[in-house]
Amino acid sequence: MNFKIAKLPGDGIGPEIVEEAIKVLNAIGTKFGHQFDFEFGYVGAAAIDATGDPFPDETLQICMESDAVLFGSIGDPKYDNDPKAKIRPEQGLLAMRKALGLYANIRPVTAFESLIDQSPLKPDLISGVDFVVVRELTGGIYFGEPRGRSEQGDKAFDTCVYTKVEIERILELAFDYAAKRSKRLTVVDKANVLATSRLWRETAQEMEPNHPDIEVDYMFVDNAAMQLIQWPKKFDVMVTENMFGDILSDEASVISGSLGLLPSASVGIHTSVYEPVHGSYPQAAGKNIANPMATILSAAMMLEISLNLTEEAQAIRVAINECLSQNVVTEDLNKDQASSTSEVGDFIAQWIGATTVAI
Ligand code: IPM
Ligand code: MN
Repeated sequence: MNFKIAKLPGDGIGPEIVEEAIKVLNAIGTKFGHQFDFEFGYVGAAAIDATGDPFPDETLQICMESDAVLFGSIGDPKYDNDPKAKIRPEQGLLAMRKALGLYANIRPVTAFESLIDQSPLKPDLISGVDFVVVRELTGGIYFGEPRGRSEQGDKAFDTCVYTKVEIERILELAFDYAAKRSKRLTVVDKANVLATSRLWRETAQEMEPNHPDIEVDYMFVDNAAMQLIQWPKKFDVMVTENMFGDILSDEASVISGSLGLLPSASVGIHTSVYEPVHGSYPQAAGKNIANPMATILSAAMMLEISLNLTEEAQAIRVAINECLSQNVVTEDLNKDQASSTSEVGDFIAQWIGATTVAI
């Protein structure tokens, strides 16, 4: 089949890691008889430099007309160190999420057996970990109004807003995920302090009777942050609001051994976006040292979720596991004997090409 994929590499290491994912997708195309046509769009600091806008209309158009979006990363130190900058690369990502209605961000966290020793956590604690963080992505403090500064500039405010409808739709998706997995759902909030969290908890409680086969538990976010590291195996599907999900998913990456291994899918109303959980890692940009696996695993999620190519997605995961067990990894996973970004991509693409698959 033919698929049209929007390619939005963004900033920092984005272009390098997206190139490796494309290499792997092309290997899948050759192997399974598909064609992926990639169309480039500007986003982030690169888009500000080229057009003045971190998410130009043209990029939105490309996304809307594609079957899926493959996204790299955004962010640039020249903006990080300038809190006064009015136009920022991150606005591009947030604008894209809003414009495409991507209200759900799915972040699977698994422990890779061959990397168990890489984690600072005890092996028996993380061996077999397999859970999903479902993060609400278009609401909460990231988007709530009013936000900004007082006239004198000596006061700043952000507002956390959630409507019941927004909470219901993300919870519905999380219940569905739990139904497909081990039927356990943890709702993470701060209902002892925040009004929005109380609405989350109340809404989840109201929805529980409609999902009698799902076992639901509720956890405050501070407690969840602790339990995630202390007993990660107790979690299956965790659903939470935008900011809590952002923080907890970075924390969870410690379990898999590197932030460079965590993929994500952002799904919602229009075209879905597939992107690594990590940022633009500017210190590594252009050096061919960044780990491309999170982006390649995001491409696997794309095949599965948006293109319905389950077997193809599995072929990527098998190749990644092989790569990890043969220790063909970037420096975040092996300081002494690191492979480069492109060597990792080459290995995975070649492995896919070389293995026989029953079609
Ligand atoms: C992420 C990132 C973004 C977020 C930033 C870059 C705006 O940290 O995708 O997790 O906070 O959502
Ligand atoms: Mn983040």
